[in-house]
Amino acid sequence: MSDPTNETDKPWQGRFTEPTDSFVEAFTASVEYDQRMARHDIRGSIAHATMLAHVGVLTSEEAGAIVDGLNSIAADIEAGQFKWSIALEDVHMNIEVALTARIGEIGKKLHTGRSRNDQVATDIRLYLRDEIDAIRKELKRLQTATIDVAEREAHTIMPGFTHLQTAQPVTFGHHMMAWYEMLVRDDGRLVDCRQRLNHMPLGAAALAGTTYPIDRAFCARLLEFEGICENSLDAVSDRDFAIELVSACAALMNHLSRFSEELILWSSAQFEFVELSDAFCTGSSIMPQKKNPDVPELIRGKAARVSGALVTLLMLMKGQPLAYNKDNQEDKEPVFDAVDTVRGSLHIYADMLAQMKVNRARMQAAAARGFSTATDLADYLVRKNIAFRDAHEIVGRAVRMAIDSNRSLEALRLSELKSLCPVITQDVFSFLTLEGSVAARDHLGGTAPAQVRAAIDRARERLSAT
Ligand code: ARG
Repeated sequence: MSDPTNETDKPWQGRFTEPTDSFVEAFTASVEYDQRMARHDIRGSIAHATMLAHVGVLTSEEAGAIVDGLNSIAADIEAGQFKWSIALEDVHMNIEVALTARIGEIGKKLHTGRSRNDQVATDIRLYLRDEIDAIRKELKRLQTATIDVAEREAHTIMPGFTHLQTAQPVTFGHHMMAWYEMLVRDDGRLVDCRQRLNHMPLGAAALAGTTYPIDRAFCARLLEFEGICENSLDAVSDRDFAIELVSACAALMNHLSRFSEELILWSSAQFEFVELSDAFCTGSSIMPQKKNPDVPELIRGKAARVSGALVTLLMLMKGQPLAYNKDNQEDKEPVFDAVDTVRGSLHIYADMLAQMKVNRARMQAAAARGFSTATDLADYLVRKNIAFRDAHEIVGRAVRMAIDSNRSLEALRLSELKSLCPVITQDVFSFLTLEGSVAARDHLGGTAPAQVRAAIDRARERLSAT
């Protein structure tokens, strides 16, 4: 017979006559990566033991010994002094066997009314709940950094693009606030996900519930769960909360990849809109002039692995019959990798933005090229009672005239403009300036500096409320 106080014997060894093949043992083990949930596993076990004493399944002395034993294990793990064993497969069995080795027979009572199936489902939720809170903190730092740039650059004029062709002038502050809006929605997805994830599986046991008179609500209160999984089969089997979280992470990383693409373009010699601090760039071993925007490039790349993790999780859960299947163990690496990647990317991004230099003159000069105020000229004609389609045609001819003579729209003479449309008068030139163009878009969501400032005020208020 196996001896569960022996630190390498598996707690499930009873019905087996042959030892596990050593390759199979290593192949099926998850302890190398699931040990990162140790703190949450111990927290769940302490709540479970406390609940068992509360309902009289354990005596309070037994529960006290178990809790003390678990706390001492937690301290050892924290100090890096705990010996993890592959033979004990996962974080749960490693801790349970260590408990019995430390406190003796009473340790074997911890698993009463519980299974690793509801245990692992609980651990992941507790772990991811903390990760969401940590990611949200980093996200808030990045939101603040984005708003800080927007505030400094509320009046800075740059070309706005569609199809990466100069479209209309915008303020750089407005552009930054566009990124802020995306980050706000990213945060909203995390909040939604946290609320659905924050339900307790414990009590579902292996799949059907347990014969002991457990008090799930008591346990849920100890673990600060907002709710309880109301079906035991569902509680142990689904990982949709992980899919949801990684999906939110993938959407967030997609935003950072687009943001990165802009920083990469803007820091090139062709744009020179911004300069990233040396701390976020590297040089080339062969081309001495190079300063490569490695950090945004790498984050653009890292968006791929988070999307990959999402696809892994979707495929992992697809077609699984109820309830728990060992497949589920494969949820951990993608989900851990996704949260690590997002946390790291957000952290570095906030620092990078805070240190980014903005080349206002280059942005302004770029906006001045490319006839970015052509729409303003059309709007001017409309105000003089020309139909928009006709105005569009007239301005098209004005642009042609400017291209042919290598001038900007502003540089055309009044007589030339009048030859295209006689209603044009001297006042037209105030509409053709970049400043006039952005200031005129003065409504909620528009690019006018006054609107950017108002958006920043709303954003700061929102940030201080969360
Ligand atoms: N390591 C397992 C996992 O991550 C824990 C649950 C194992 N349960 C079982 N019946 N084999 O999913």
